[in-house]
Amino acid sequence: MKENSFEIEKFNSWAKNYNRQVRESDKENKYPFAAYEKIQNRIEEYILTTNYKNILDIGIGTGTLAKLLYDKGYNITGIDFSKEMLKKTKTLIPNANLINWDFANGLPDEINKKKFDIIICNYAIHHLEDSSKKSLLEEAFNILIEKGTIIIADIITETKKEMEFARTKDIDIWDDDEYYLIYDNTKKWFTNVEMSFEKYSYCSGILFMTK
Ligand SMILES: C[S@@+](CC[C@H](N)C(=O)[O-])C[C@H]1O[C@@H](n2cnc3c(N)ncnc32)[C@H](O)[C@@H]1O
Repeated sequence: MKENSFEIEKFNSWAKNYNRQVRESDKENKYPFAAYEKIQNRIEEYILTTNYKNILDIGIGTGTLAKLLYDKGYNITGIDFSKEMLKKTKTLIPNANLINWDFANGLPDEINKKKFDIIICNYAIHHLEDSSKKSLLEEAFNILIEKGTIIIADIITETKKEMEFARTKDIDIWDDDEYYLIYDNTKKWFTNVEMSFEKYSYCSGILFMTK
């Protein structure tokens, strides 16, 4: 089992100001949360066009996106290693199944026994290096129904060149300890999966992966 207490503490401290900082970064259209609200709205709109009901949110944080879906009757399961983030989420979506778990260790046993229609990972998978990201996604595909979709919203660009542009633009605040996805590379990871990418800002976008 990996122990990540330093990282967990970082997120526990961030929980209090997280929503405000996201809003500010989005308003300024700046890394890391440029286009955050547009992205949440797009994910909600996408899910509303399906008949699906069971949603897993990996790295659910303060539950902003999950709340939009919970209020419309979706069943929400959320994973996060920060108890403080989960405390906030619990107040927003009290009947959701919230699991305190470090996804660097894969998915918890209680999740691996279930099936989900949609799996969301919103601004969280960049904490894993590519090989761990790929194994987490493989586990996620195992618990996804046929034709279900994994939705990853994050700091993602289509090409390496675009990522380098974003990094240079925001070099003063760029976090080199995070591992951002590049669509051109990621689409080679899974051959049986239908993938598409929607760009929402110079540094962010949504990756859809349908089984
Ligand atoms: C930037 S926040 C994103 C939160 C939320 N999904 C959103 O869109 O606002 C990243 C979240 O992932 C969680 N997280 C990061 N690494 C994690 C890990 N290895 N296991 C579980 N949760 C993790 C953090 O605690 C935090 O709540």
